Amino acid sequence: MANKEIKLNDMGNEVVEGFACKPVDFDASRPIMHYQSLLLVCDDERCHKAQKGDKSIELRDMLKDMGLNKGANRIKVTRTSCNGACRFRAVTQVTTNTQANGVAKNNGLWLKNTHQYTKDEWKNIFELLSTGKMLVDNLDAEAFIPMKVYN
Ligand code: FES
Repeated sequence: MANKEIKLNDMGNEVVEGFACKPVDFDASRPIMHYQSLLLVCDDERCHKAQKGDKSIELRDMLKDMGLNKGANRIKVTRTSCNGACRFRAVTQVTTNTQANGVAKNNGLWLKNTHQYTKDEWKNIFELLSTGKMLVDNLDAEAFIPMKVYN
């Protein structure tokens, strides 16, 4: 009789068959996993269409390859519904965990036309974030969605 292969999620918990990370033993009191940076990748209709599908899967695979899917400099990727910035599609919002080791100046940044990014461009962003570099100092100003600021 063959042994059943046990799949573990990034938290080290056994995963329900057919799911990517749903734990077998549900514990609502368990903390969420640490992240240094969080990318909110819009996957609503217009951005989804521009990027021809769910970009978050590819980005998560890249982060795994770079070893940034866990640990102190983990970058989390989450799909979102419309962010109200469709004219800049595809849109990705960057936030950073200032309660941990995130760099405050990388917080609240919005990247536009991310469906046009190559893998190398995404890797560059992941490296900048994970090494605590400021995106505004290292990316072209055209990469960002301008935001009206009230003083
Ligand atoms: S669908 Fe992405 S910002 Fe509206």
